[in-house]
Amino acid sequence: MKTPIIIVNFKAYKEGTGRNAVKLAKICEKVAKKTKKNIAIAVEEVDIRNISSKVKIPVLSEHLDSIREGAHTGNNLAEAIKENGAWGTLLNHSENRLRIDQLEESIKRAREVGLKTVVCANNSEIAEAVAAFEPDMIAIEPPELIGGDISVSTAKPQVITDTIKKVKRIANIPVLCGAGIKSGADVKKAIKLGAKGILVASGIVKAKDPEKALTELADAL
Ligand code: G3P
Repeated sequence: MKTPIIIVNFKAYKEGTGRNAVKLAKICEKVAKKTKKNIAIAVEEVDIRNISSKVKIPVLSEHLDSIREGAHTGNNLAEAIKENGAWGTLLNHSENRLRIDQLEESIKRAREVGLKTVVCANNSEIAEAVAAFEPDMIAIEPPELIGGDISVSTAKPQVITDTIKKVKRIANIPVLCGAGIKSGADVKKAIKLGAKGILVASGIVKAKDPEKALTELADAL
Protein backbone atom coordinates (compact mmCIF):
# COMPACT_ATOMS: atom_id res chain seq x y z
CA MET A 1 0.00 0.00 0.00
CA LYS A 2 1.59 3.24 -1.09
CA THR A 3 1.90 6.14 1.33
CA PRO A 4 1.38 8.97 1.89
CA ILE A 5 -2.24 8.50 0.93
CA ILE A 6 -5.56 10.30 1.05
CA ILE A 7 -8.62 8.11 1.47
CA VAL A 8 -11.88 9.85 0.67
CA ASN A 9 -14.78 8.20 2.49
CA PHE A 10 -17.99 8.77 0.52
CA LYS A 11 -20.12 7.57 3.50
CA ALA A 12 -23.84 7.54 2.66
CA TYR A 13 -23.91 11.19 1.65
CA LYS A 14 -26.26 12.00 -1.20
CA GLU A 15 -23.28 13.45 -3.05
CA GLY A 16 -21.40 10.16 -2.61
CA THR A 17 -23.87 7.47 -3.60
CA GLY A 18 -25.24 6.08 -6.86
CA ARG A 19 -24.68 8.28 -9.92
CA ASN A 20 -23.17 11.02 -7.76
CA ALA A 21 -20.62 8.53 -6.44
CA VAL A 22 -19.39 7.81 -9.96
CA LYS A 23 -19.02 11.53 -10.65
CA LEU A 24 -17.12 12.04 -7.41
CA ALA A 25 -14.91 8.99 -8.01
CA LYS A 26 -13.93 10.42 -11.41
CA ILE A 27 -13.04 13.72 -9.76
CA CYS A 28 -10.85 11.88 -7.22
CA GLU A 29 -9.14 10.03 -10.05
CA LYS A 30 -8.58 13.26 -11.95
CA VAL A 31 -6.96 14.89 -8.90
CA ALA A 32 -4.80 11.80 -8.28
CA LYS A 33 -3.51 11.98 -11.86
CA LYS A 34 -3.05 15.73 -11.87
CA THR A 35 -1.20 15.90 -8.55
CA LYS A 36 0.49 12.47 -8.85
CA LYS A 37 -0.57 11.64 -5.28
CA ASN A 38 -2.01 8.43 -3.86
CA ILE A 39 -5.76 8.85 -3.56
CA ALA A 40 -8.16 6.03 -2.72
CA ILE A 41 -11.90 6.08 -2.15
CA ALA A 42 -14.18 4.22 0.24
CA VAL A 43 -17.68 3.67 -1.10
CA GLU A 44 -20.88 1.87 -0.18
CA GLU A 45 -20.88 -1.81 -1.07
CA VAL A 46 -23.66 -1.40 -3.63
CA ASP A 47 -21.58 1.11 -5.58
CA ILE A 48 -18.34 -0.87 -5.71
CA ARG A 49 -18.90 -2.72 -8.98
CA ASN A 50 -20.02 0.32 -10.92
CA ILE A 51 -17.29 2.57 -9.60
CA SER A 52 -14.46 0.04 -9.94
CA SER A 53 -15.33 -0.46 -13.58
CA LYS A 54 -15.07 3.29 -14.22
CA VAL A 55 -11.95 4.42 -12.32
CA LYS A 56 -8.49 3.03 -11.78
CA ILE A 57 -7.77 4.46 -8.34
CA PRO A 58 -8.08 1.99 -5.43
CA VAL A 59 -11.64 1.44 -4.22
CA LEU A 60 -12.41 0.28 -0.70
CA SER A 61 -15.70 -0.93 0.67
CA GLU A 62 -16.85 1.06 3.69
CA HIS A 63 -17.38 -2.18 5.60
CA LEU A 64 -17.11 -5.95 5.30
CA ASP A 65 -18.82 -8.64 7.36
CA SER A 66 -16.95 -11.55 8.84
CA ILE A 67 -19.38 -14.19 7.53
CA ARG A 68 -18.34 -16.97 5.17
CA GLU A 69 -20.18 -18.06 2.02
CA GLY A 70 -23.40 -19.87 2.93
CA ALA A 71 -26.74 -19.29 4.60
CA HIS A 72 -26.52 -15.66 5.72
CA THR A 73 -28.85 -12.84 4.78
CA GLY A 74 -28.10 -9.17 4.36
CA ASN A 75 -24.34 -9.20 4.86
CA ASN A 76 -21.38 -7.94 2.89
CA LEU A 77 -19.40 -11.01 1.91
CA ALA A 78 -15.64 -10.64 1.45
CA GLU A 79 -15.60 -12.72 -1.76
CA ALA A 80 -18.35 -10.59 -3.31
CA ILE A 81 -16.62 -7.35 -2.40
CA LYS A 82 -13.40 -8.60 -3.98
CA GLU A 83 -15.13 -9.94 -7.09
CA ASN A 84 -16.90 -6.62 -7.56
CA GLY A 85 -13.54 -4.94 -7.99
CA ALA A 86 -12.60 -3.58 -4.58
CA TRP A 87 -8.96 -3.23 -3.66
CA GLY A 88 -9.56 -3.10 0.07
CA THR A 89 -11.96 -2.42 2.87
CA LEU A 90 -12.39 0.09 5.64
CA LEU A 91 -13.29 -1.57 8.93
CA ASN A 92 -14.50 -0.48 12.35
CA HIS A 93 -15.36 3.07 11.37
CA SER A 94 -16.88 5.00 14.30
CA GLU A 95 -20.15 4.98 12.38
CA ASN A 96 -19.98 1.18 12.03
CA ARG A 97 -18.03 -0.18 14.98
CA LEU A 98 -17.35 -3.88 15.34
CA ARG A 99 -16.92 -6.13 18.32
CA ILE A 100 -13.27 -7.05 18.71
CA ASP A 101 -13.82 -10.71 17.72
CA GLN A 102 -15.79 -9.66 14.64
CA LEU A 103 -13.08 -7.20 13.72
CA GLU A 104 -10.36 -9.83 14.00
CA GLU A 105 -12.38 -12.19 11.83
CA SER A 106 -13.20 -9.47 9.27
CA ILE A 107 -9.50 -8.66 8.89
CA LYS A 108 -8.78 -12.37 8.37
CA ARG A 109 -11.58 -12.72 5.83
CA ALA A 110 -10.37 -9.67 3.90
CA ARG A 111 -6.84 -11.04 3.85
CA GLU A 112 -8.04 -14.46 2.68
CA VAL A 113 -9.63 -12.96 -0.42
CA GLY A 114 -6.82 -10.49 -1.11
CA LEU A 115 -8.34 -7.25 0.13
CA LYS A 116 -6.25 -4.62 1.94
CA THR A 117 -7.51 -3.50 5.33
CA VAL A 118 -7.69 -0.01 6.78
CA VAL A 119 -8.95 -0.25 10.34
CA CYS A 120 -10.31 2.78 12.17
CA ALA A 121 -9.76 3.36 15.86
CA ASN A 122 -11.53 5.93 18.02
CA ASN A 123 -8.59 6.28 20.43
CA SER A 124 -4.96 5.29 20.80
CA GLU A 125 -5.71 2.31 23.09
CA ILE A 126 -8.03 0.78 20.52
CA ALA A 127 -5.42 1.45 17.84
CA GLU A 128 -2.85 -0.41 19.90
CA ALA A 129 -5.19 -3.37 20.36
CA VAL A 130 -6.04 -3.43 16.67
CA ALA A 131 -2.35 -3.40 15.71
CA ALA A 132 -2.05 -6.95 17.04
CA PHE A 133 -4.27 -8.09 14.15
CA GLU A 134 -1.79 -6.54 11.69
CA PRO A 135 -4.10 -4.69 9.32
CA ASP A 136 -2.44 -2.87 6.41
CA MET A 137 -3.19 0.55 7.90
CA ILE A 138 -4.73 2.02 11.02
CA ALA A 139 -6.69 5.28 10.98
CA ILE A 140 -7.14 7.25 14.18
CA GLU A 141 -10.34 9.30 14.24
CA PRO A 142 -11.65 10.95 17.42
CA PRO A 143 -15.43 10.54 16.93
CA GLU A 144 -16.32 13.93 18.41
CA LEU A 145 -14.37 15.69 15.62
CA ILE A 146 -15.87 13.72 12.73
CA GLY A 147 -17.88 15.93 10.41
CA GLY A 148 -16.75 19.10 12.19
CA ASP A 149 -14.64 22.04 11.13
CA ILE A 150 -11.68 21.61 13.47
CA SER A 151 -9.26 18.97 12.32
CA VAL A 152 -7.81 16.20 14.45
CA SER A 153 -4.33 17.52 13.66
CA THR A 154 -5.24 20.92 15.14
CA ALA A 155 -7.52 19.90 18.01
CA LYS A 156 -5.83 16.69 19.17
CA PRO A 157 -2.27 16.45 17.84
CA GLN A 158 -1.31 14.33 20.81
CA VAL A 159 -3.83 11.68 19.90
CA ILE A 160 -1.98 11.24 16.61
CA THR A 161 1.49 11.08 18.15
CA ASP A 162 0.32 8.78 20.97
CA THR A 163 -1.31 6.45 18.48
CA ILE A 164 1.80 6.29 16.31
CA LYS A 165 3.91 5.50 19.39
CA LYS A 166 1.56 2.81 20.67
CA VAL A 167 1.09 1.14 17.29
CA LYS A 168 4.86 1.10 16.71
CA ARG A 169 5.32 -0.90 19.91
CA ILE A 170 3.19 -3.68 18.42
CA ALA A 171 3.88 -3.66 14.68
CA ASN A 172 5.17 -1.54 11.85
CA ILE A 173 1.82 -0.35 10.49
CA PRO A 174 1.27 3.05 8.84
CA VAL A 175 -1.06 5.28 10.85
CA LEU A 176 -3.45 7.66 9.10
CA CYS A 177 -5.61 10.23 10.82
CA GLY A 178 -9.00 11.68 10.09
CA ALA A 179 -11.84 13.87 11.36
CA GLY A 180 -12.48 17.47 10.47
CA ILE A 181 -9.77 17.69 7.81
CA LYS A 182 -10.66 20.55 5.52
CA SER A 183 -7.49 22.32 4.40
CA GLY A 184 -3.97 21.82 3.13
CA ALA A 185 -2.71 23.16 6.47
CA ASP A 186 -4.60 20.36 8.28
CA VAL A 187 -2.88 17.78 6.05
CA LYS A 188 0.56 19.33 6.51
CA LYS A 189 0.15 19.27 10.29
CA ALA A 190 -0.93 15.62 10.21
CA ILE A 191 2.09 14.60 8.13
CA LYS A 192 4.42 16.63 10.34
CA LEU A 193 3.07 14.74 13.36
CA GLY A 194 4.02 11.47 11.66
CA ALA A 195 0.77 10.38 10.01
CA LYS A 196 1.19 8.55 6.71
CA GLY A 197 -1.92 10.05 5.26
CA ILE A 198 -5.45 11.15 5.98
CA LEU A 199 -9.01 9.96 5.88
CA VAL A 200 -11.50 12.63 4.84
CA ALA A 201 -15.22 12.74 4.12
CA SER A 202 -17.32 15.91 4.45
CA GLY A 203 -14.46 18.24 3.47
CA ILE A 204 -14.55 16.70 -0.01
CA VAL A 205 -17.90 14.97 -0.46
CA LYS A 206 -19.90 17.98 0.77
CA ALA A 207 -17.59 20.64 -0.70
CA LYS A 208 -19.04 23.13 -3.19
CA ASP A 209 -16.12 22.32 -5.46
CA PRO A 210 -14.75 18.84 -4.56
CA GLU A 211 -12.02 19.00 -7.19
CA LYS A 212 -10.64 22.23 -5.78
CA ALA A 213 -10.92 20.98 -2.19
CA LEU A 214 -9.19 17.67 -2.92
CA THR A 215 -6.47 19.33 -4.98
CA GLU A 216 -5.64 21.52 -1.99
CA LEU A 217 -5.32 18.46 0.26
CA ALA A 218 -3.32 16.48 -2.30
CA ASP A 219 -0.92 19.34 -2.92
CA ALA A 220 -0.22 19.46 0.81
CA LEU A 221 0.47 15.71 1.07
O1 G3P B 1 -13.79 8.32 7.50
C1 G3P B 1 -13.49 9.67 7.52
C2 G3P B 1 -14.38 10.43 8.36
O2 G3P B 1 -14.95 9.80 9.44
C3 G3P B 1 -13.96 11.81 8.65
O3 G3P B 1 -15.09 12.54 8.39
O4 G3P B 1 -16.32 14.47 7.63
O5 G3P B 1 -14.71 14.68 9.49
O6 G3P B 1 -13.86 14.32 7.17
P1 G3P B 1 -14.97 14.10 8.16
